[in-house]
Amino acid sequence: MQDARATILDVANLTTVFNTRDGMVYAVNNVSFSLKAGELLGIVGESGSGKSVTMMSLLKLLPSPPAEITNGDIWFNGRQLREVSDDELRKVRGGEIGFIFQDPMTSLNPVFTVGFQIMEPLRLHMGLGKKAARIRAAELLELVGIPDAMARLRDYPHQFSGGMRQRVMIAIALACDPKVLIADEPTTALDVTIQAQILELIKELRHKLGMAIIWITHDLGVVAEIADRVAVMYAGQIVEHAQVSELFSNPLHPYTRALLETLPQMGGERAQRLRSIDGQPPNLDHEPVSCEFAPRCKHVLSRCTQENPKRRAVTPEHDVACWWQPGQEGEKDA
Ligand SMILES: Nc1ncnc2c1ncn2[C@@H]1O[C@H](COP(=O)(O)OP(=O)(O)OP(=O)(O)O)[C@@H](O)[C@H]1O
Ligand SMILES: [Mg+2]
Repeated sequence: MQDARATILDVANLTTVFNTRDGMVYAVNNVSFSLKAGELLGIVGESGSGKSVTMMSLLKLLPSPPAEITNGDIWFNGRQLREVSDDELRKVRGGEIGFIFQDPMTSLNPVFTVGFQIMEPLRLHMGLGKKAARIRAAELLELVGIPDAMARLRDYPHQFSGGMRQRVMIAIALACDPKVLIADEPTTALDVTIQAQILELIKELRHKLGMAIIWITHDLGVVAEIADRVAVMYAGQIVEHAQVSELFSNPLHPYTRALLETLPQMGGERAQRLRSIDGQPPNLDHEPVSCEFAPRCKHVLSRCTQENPKRRAVTPEHDVACWWQPGQEGEKDA
């Protein structure tokens, strides 16, 4: 069934390169995806596949140079983010779009109290006075499950445990009632029990606050648990995209299939990270002209090394960028 909710973020053909001393790095190639109000989109892919660079590009969070967005449209809530002024973009960042980074210690400032850091966006984006901001900051800490919130506003980041610091980061990201929350592997630095607690918290907040979420992870198990839809990235491209249940029951891209094979079976311990699949990760020193996964692919066809497959719709809700089709005999299948 088609989802009738309004699209809040629409990214088309986003391409980001790094112009480094050692040459060009084609980190994000022609990436397109959209996000509907209130929905949770998972982005999965191994290290270096371009997940973070994609999200940082949306909000111009990358240092330029060396980063350059060379193509694409980023429509957010009726505005083209590539064209808005720096001032307006600052308002979107941390205001309408909240961001949670992987490592809470590098994104919290050690020299300011946690209270100050939650209050700052409230004063900056919401125009709250000091007293109102303090009250709201305590409410936010309470919302993310930090006991004795009013008193803890006076504490510094190092006085919180890793899991609690991540909760503080979530409180900051939620401060201005974002329409979209981008969470870039917010649980990988945490132990498994705390990871599970943070996931529960996000699930609960999502229903309470009704925001849309982009959740970046290595872990398809996490995606299965929380996402509505999932986009699989490889070598800076989205290679498959579908509703979660569809992706798990009918994976079409050999890379997605390989990822699924690395997931532990039911009853086993959940892997903290995806075990790596055979072969070398791709080199990003060229624009993709053929399928970047071909050297590692079990089902490679001669066409795969000559032409980069475009994403084709299998159903309106499921698309894949691959020349091979399940059942078809590839060159290594014989
Ligand atoms: N400042 C930079 N200069 C040059 N290359 C960069 C820079 N930042 C990122 N890259 C490259 O861009 C590619 C994509 O990186 P990105 O951080 O998006 O990967 P990722 O999918 O988020 O990986 P991870 O799962 O490890 O976080 C990588 O090859 C990376 O080396
Ligand atoms: Mg990353």
